[in-house]
Amino acid sequence: MSQLEVFRRMHNDHAQVLDGIAALERLIVAPDEMTRSVVPVHEAVALLARQFGTHMRAEEEALFPALIEALPEARSLVAPLTIEHETLRWMLAGLARTLAKPRTPDRDERLSVEIRDIVDLLRVHIRKEEAMVFGVAERVLRARDLERIGRSFECESPTERKECER
Ligand SMILES: [Fe+2]
Repeated sequence: MSQLEVFRRMHNDHAQVLDGIAALERLIVAPDEMTRSVVPVHEAVALLARQFGTHMRAEEEALFPALIEALPEARSLVAPLTIEHETLRWMLAGLARTLAKPRTPDRDERLSVEIRDIVDLLRVHIRKEEAMVFGVAERVLRARDLERIGRSFECESPTERKECER
């Protein structure tokens, strides 16, 4: 993957996640969509968790360490983002648990609150990464780092991940 492609890939991942959360957000205003939706909501959430999980892992295992190695001051930039990743994983898991519960007005209310929280945090988080991390990374990372980072972002499925780890 070329340098340009690596950054394009990371931006694309973010764009896909933003699309996914926009769809979730529509459920807050129209909760009955949950039963009419072509793709079951729990599947949409599972897909989002999987896609974003891969993306976050690639950032934590490849992008962030390379950035800190190239520019130690970046540690203070990256640390809060890593904490947000943990929070997002925890929130997505909580959302999946709420979705698995039988529908009641209470459960729907709780779902709306959880979706609102995830949507808000994801938007802010992605904005921070794009504004603070990607710009610095584009300037300081070397071709060798970018090649490795590109490979991590390509390791989508567990099978591919095994291939990538070889
Ligand atoms: Fe990201």
